Amino acid sequence: THPRFLVDGFEVAKKATLEFLETFKTPVVIGDQPDREILKMVARTTLRTKLYEGLADQLTDIVVNAVLCIRQSDQPIDLFMVEIMHMRHKFDVDTRLIEGLVLDHGSRHPDMKRRAENCYILTANVSLEYEKSEINAGFFYSNAEQREKMVTAERRQVDERVQKIIELKNKVCAGTDKNFVVINQKGIDPPSLDLLARAGIIALRRAKRRNMERLVLACGGEAINSVEGMTEDCLGWAGLVYEHVLGEEKYTFVENVKNPHSCTILIKGPNDHTIAQIKDAVRDGLRSVKNTVEDEAVVLVALERSRWLQGSISLTM
Ligand SMILES: *[C@@H]1O[C@H](CO)[C@@H](O)[C@H](O)[C@H]1NC(C)=O
Repeated sequence: THPRFLVDGFEVAKKATLEFLETFKTPVVIGDQPDREILKMVARTTLRTKLYEGLADQLTDIVVNAVLCIRQSDQPIDLFMVEIMHMRHKFDVDTRLIEGLVLDHGSRHPDMKRRAENCYILTANVSLEYEKSEINAGFFYSNAEQREKMVTAERRQVDERVQKIIELKNKVCAGTDKNFVVINQKGIDPPSLDLLARAGIIALRRAKRRNMERLVLACGGEAINSVEGMTEDCLGWAGLVYEHVLGEEKYTFVENVKNPHSCTILIKGPNDHTIAQIKDAVRDGLRSVKNTVEDEAVVLVALERSRWLQGSISLTM
């Protein structure tokens, strides 16, 4: 027979299958809300193909909640907004979801608070360090006195930037129990840290670039590139900011955020192999839950069967 007939045959079969599935599938999104139980089934099924049952079941809620956390109606789900982090730790069952962010460093000043509630969050990309590179290059001065003046001038500029931040802090926090946290993509040098610490501000420097976008999504406000014209509207909000020390590593948790459209899955595992395995399964789980939410339907028979077949069952046609 001519291949054409075969192709026609497939087309007929496909059409019939699609019509059947259309009557048979179960909607996942009802009104605006995805059915959490169905999403949990999808997540559990996917996770169990790669992890032992106890762990898979423990991660099921985490994976579903992560996708629902970053989901915004009428927008595609951007799994990039789920940060997956790990800590090496004795027990793998401690993996958890943080509706907010975890930064993999702490503050570098002994007098800064390690824990604060009701925090304004300033997400900044402003140099708060005296860089001295140009001055040391030597073009700009002809004698020691001139050099000294330039050093002083640059120091003063950095101090003025810090002062602007302190003024904003005082404006929004004075007379309240609120706190103020600066998370800066650029550097903050020790004199600046001193000034900020004395003003009761928690400051983190050298935050990763990709966390700036996430911070703004999670906490609200906007990322500022300059302290000029900075207002209260630039500030985000987190209910809780605290430092966590694990061995040599310091982490800063930013939690209870305003609109958690970015979250972090913190994976704890006893060794690198286990961590890699959990990460891999979590990524698969996130993808299958995302696909299910976006397809808005699922075929439940396939879902059950897939427990001993494999992977995602969401319909993509
Ligand atoms: C931060 O500022 C630098 C310039 O100093 C710029 O190149 C970079 O794109 C800024 N980062 C963000 C996230 O805006």
